[in-house]
Amino acid sequence: MGQHLQAIYDTRVSEGLLRPDPAQRAALVRLEALRERLEAQARPKPGLFARFRKPEPPEGPQGIYLWGGVGRGKSMLMDLFYHHAPTVEKRRVHFHAFMQEVQAALHEARKTGVEDAIKPVAADIAKGLRLLCFDEMQITDIADAMIVGRLFEKLFAAGVVIVTTSNRHPQDLYKDGLNRALFLPFIKLLQDRLEVDQLEAMTDYRQDRLAGSPVYFSPLGAQATAAIDEIWRDLTGGREEELCLEVKGRQVRLPRYWAGMARASFWDLCGQPLGPADYLALVGAAKLLVLDGIPRLDATKFNEAKRFVTLVDALYEGHVRLICSAQDLPERLYQEGSGSFEFERTASRLREMQGADWGKGRDGAG
Ligand SMILES: Nc1ncnc2c1ncn2[C@@H]1O[C@H](COP(=O)(O)OP(=O)(O)O)[C@@H](O)[C@H]1O
Ligand SMILES: [Mg+2]
Repeated sequence: MGQHLQAIYDTRVSEGLLRPDPAQRAALVRLEALRERLEAQARPKPGLFARFRKPEPPEGPQGIYLWGGVGRGKSMLMDLFYHHAPTVEKRRVHFHAFMQEVQAALHEARKTGVEDAIKPVAADIAKGLRLLCFDEMQITDIADAMIVGRLFEKLFAAGVVIVTTSNRHPQDLYKDGLNRALFLPFIKLLQDRLEVDQLEAMTDYRQDRLAGSPVYFSPLGAQATAAIDEIWRDLTGGREEELCLEVKGRQVRLPRYWAGMARASFWDLCGQPLGPADYLALVGAAKLLVLDGIPRLDATKFNEAKRFVTLVDALYEGHVRLICSAQDLPERLYQEGSGSFEFERTASRLREMQGADWGKGRDGAG
């Protein structure tokens, strides 16, 4: 018998790692019920050929769709569940990364001339898999919208249990998307198969954790680095993974990513030929960016300055929380050279984004 998720949660509360939250605890009760069903199913059934039996879907809903506002603890709860799920045949993946993988696999399958590429692709994913956890389900791409229905139908039919987090109720997925009528069966499928659970926690814990803490560290140096490292560790719990964003057929790598938070250096993002589409993709995947090492830029660095302006605009418009270290105050980062006049607006935005309320109530990835 594994330990109840509620007990683990309560231990973390008593250790001061989490604040007690009734809404989170209520969500845990349902996650724990699912965990226990998985556990019961994993126990060998009596009978000579029992171990050759195909896994059957657990009784009741075939997973949980946990949705709610940003920073409420959806990813944290799902990770807790995932970590203690009684199976090794499990996988946790960012939904966006998963769909990119699926699209690439479909592309390969179609080359072989199969009639229905989704079938072998879904079978491949489901092979040896009991539990699939998605972080941040959202659908913005028509290519994804048109295949998820049949893909998930096949995953469910193969007995895969799905737990996912999202910022939106299923009915609001792909809202105002093209050909939405063709997407509606997917919504119905989610609602039929998954327990749809709203996390109504009152606190945005991400904002809370940052409240009062500075988010703009200057000058550069060991002190700034240590401060930012500590914030990053606190926010991610020391976990990170790589996220690859597909932008117009190119891959943009975010080497350090966790649960809607990305960390990169100034040179990663502004020292390479990236443009608005790349920064928008970043904003789509991250609601918080830690940006290390913004230098003072002289007139020869007008390209880097221009990219930085574009990046800050994208972050600003997307209400992304920015935590950064910089060589100097915002106004002094780019004072001469092409576009330095326009840079004043960027500096002012950088100031505004330091406000404690910045990024609150953003509707997007969570
Ligand atoms: N009850 C809590 N007490 C303290 N911190 C929390 C609590 N719940 C979540 N957090 C922290 O708040 C941050 C946001 O939580 P997260 O699960 O990423 O939110 P969401 O996925 O809903 O946007 C994370 O750093 C998480 O560890
Ligand atoms: Mg999240």
